[in-house]
Amino acid sequence: MTSSTVSSDFPAQSPAHFPADFLWGAATSSYQIEGAVDADGRGESIWDRFCQQPGRIIDGSSGAVACDHYHRWQQDIALLSSLGLTGYRFSIAWPRVMPLGRGAVNQPGLDFYERLVDGMLAAGITPLPTLYHWDLPQALEDQGGWTVRPTAEAFADYAQVVVERLGDRVAEWMTINEPFVVANHGYLTGEHAPGRHSLTDSLAASHHVLLAHGLAVQRIRAAAANARVGIVLNFTPVTAVGSSPAAIDRQRIQDDLENRWYVEPVAGRGYPAFTAERLGWEQNEVLPGDLDIIAAPIDTLGINYYTRQQVGAVAGTYSQAAESRTAMGWEVHPASFGELLRHLHHEYKFGRYLITENGAAMPDGHRRDGRVLDADRIAYFTSHLGEVRQAIDEGVPIEGYFAWSLLDNFEWAHGYGPRFGIVEVDYDTQQRIPKSSALWYAQVARSGQIVPWSA
Ligand code: GCO
Repeated sequence: MTSSTVSSDFPAQSPAHFPADFLWGAATSSYQIEGAVDADGRGESIWDRFCQQPGRIIDGSSGAVACDHYHRWQQDIALLSSLGLTGYRFSIAWPRVMPLGRGAVNQPGLDFYERLVDGMLAAGITPLPTLYHWDLPQALEDQGGWTVRPTAEAFADYAQVVVERLGDRVAEWMTINEPFVVANHGYLTGEHAPGRHSLTDSLAASHHVLLAHGLAVQRIRAAAANARVGIVLNFTPVTAVGSSPAAIDRQRIQDDLENRWYVEPVAGRGYPAFTAERLGWEQNEVLPGDLDIIAAPIDTLGINYYTRQQVGAVAGTYSQAAESRTAMGWEVHPASFGELLRHLHHEYKFGRYLITENGAAMPDGHRRDGRVLDADRIAYFTSHLGEVRQAIDEGVPIEGYFAWSLLDNFEWAHGYGPRFGIVEVDYDTQQRIPKSSALWYAQVARSGQIVPWSA
């Protein structure tokens, strides 16, 4: 585990205020925090199945209990409120709502999310639900999962059921979280559920998950005409190390696969032809009209950013010496975040942006008076929020920021080792203990400024 080497010297930050109505939030996802995987009629998800397979999760854990948010949601909303946060990004577990992915609706599952949303609204917190954050009903995977078109159609039916129930009180919906990770990690590298290793499957999945987004946008517009709709895309800017033709070529392909493959179709430009051809993808899954469905206008682009990546002339991870890294080994590189924000707006001109995830896992080894003293995480947020502030000053319409994550939680194949929360979770007692970063972030949210922090 790479230890943090972030210095505690804080970069000078603009004292400028963020816009008065800027949304200050935190983010989580259903499988990573809810637990209660067998409660109240929830169906099996691909992550329940994946975690049962030996060797898939580094510490042999699962989201079966996680942060027990399903039973502790009221205290977690109280936590958000105590921090003065005005937004909460969460995800809705498809298997709680439709245990088999299609057909029968499990009302107790919908009831849970209704209680959760009503609790947020009562606390003056804006709910930002994501309809899919990777917990596909296993029954759909058994029928082909994202490699087959009917899954996209089933997603649209599911989205309609949820929006018809909650559309009277939820003003904004995000359809899919990180389609790149869904297709790449789930169907190519196999490091995520369902754990397949097939380029053909991964390419088919990339199309069907984008088609699911487009079909869901139609249903959401029909069920909640005044709602905002968006998609959450993760971006990891790719730079070439060296100027050799091989390095340049690999940078272009990686940038296409990881970044442009998703934003370009959503922006109405179709799939990056250069890389589609290099991969030999004949696009047989792309039926007439699909690209228009995927390019349905959206109100908001959700941007997830953590780090950049560098590629050299040969395969394998290539990373030069970095000034600082997180506990995941990811380079801390806020400048790439600022460049990304300006690039996205200059290139695609979406009407509105939310930073739907940004944050860092840190060793969290320093404590004082029983509280994690996470100066390195505060430094990460400070530098990255500074880039957001700068981008807004330059005209990028960013209207909110959601720190990843509210709570330490299940970090997928990494299990419970990495801790991304601004609030510590003692998994033995389920006690929530705000870290120094939570107290600092509360000051930022209340003041609308990137306030300095001193231990
Ligand atoms: C993602 C997911 C989160 C992760 C977070 C840290 O963006 O990968 O949305 O579920 O936990 O990003 O890896």
